[in-house]
Amino acid sequence: MEIIHSPDEMAAWAKAQAAAGGGIALVPTMGCFHDAHLSLMRCARRQAGKVVVSLFVNPLQFGPSEDFAAYPRNFAEDCRMAAGEGVDAVFAPDPAEMYPKGFQTVVSVKDITRHLCGASRPGHFDGVATVLVKLFHLTRADCAVFGEKDYQQLVVIRRLTADLNMDIEIIGHPTVREADGLAMSSRNLYLEEGDRESALSLYRSIVMARKLAAGGLRDAIGLERRLREYIESFPGTEIDYVCLVDAESLEPAAAVDDRTLVALAVRIGGRVRLIDNGLVLRDG
Ligand code: PAF
Repeated sequence: MEIIHSPDEMAAWAKAQAAAGGGIALVPTMGCFHDAHLSLMRCARRQAGKVVVSLFVNPLQFGPSEDFAAYPRNFAEDCRMAAGEGVDAVFAPDPAEMYPKGFQTVVSVKDITRHLCGASRPGHFDGVATVLVKLFHLTRADCAVFGEKDYQQLVVIRRLTADLNMDIEIIGHPTVREADGLAMSSRNLYLEEGDRESALSLYRSIVMARKLAAGGLRDAIGLERRLREYIESFPGTEIDYVCLVDAESLEPAAAVDDRTLVALAVRIGGRVRLIDNGLVLRDG
């Protein structure tokens, strides 16, 4: 497996591979791999002859008071795990090379970033969109694989690539969960021992939304209220948002239908911000 740090080398490697044919699949990551990342890599492996994993904690998508400096990093182990999945190249650039002095371009997706994480993390999706446009170009990826846990991110990327006529297929991969239902996330590492039940309130409230909707509660405000009460009954939970939205536009839903998604962001123990989501009338 090649380990590439320089954007120029990445571009040269990708140019040679693209000329050879067989396709390139990209898995963009911020590292600190767990099983969900490995599933994305396996999915990428099925799509193309070459798999590139980018490993870059992108400073542009963190707000000033967010956890950029503390974000978990585990480069050597990440490379070992990627090699174990048969990844062809890991691209791990330095921030100063991705955003050299004088860098001033920002890619911004408008309406669908007004909601959910976009509302509570101003500038976050500009950072995500900007780095992804760079990564898509540098790696010449034919497709890129993203987890559905970051559902809004997936919708934003689909909008971005469609709007800019980018010749890349965006593949969403179902959320990978622990045995008890907790969505896998690098931020789970920050959870302390007593936090588990509170962290599980996210997944359990998705299950609860499905049960309540199946039982006839279809009014979005009523359903959101029940979920909030449930989450707040766990110690140390601080709700960022609990929203029922249309799965395509991300606009708030008035009543549950088969496109309604429940989206949640909850801070646990004042430190760990977790997100999760699921369609209300369908599992997945
Ligand atoms: O989901 C992530 O890990 C990041 O937002 C991404 C897509 C790698 C862009 O930095």
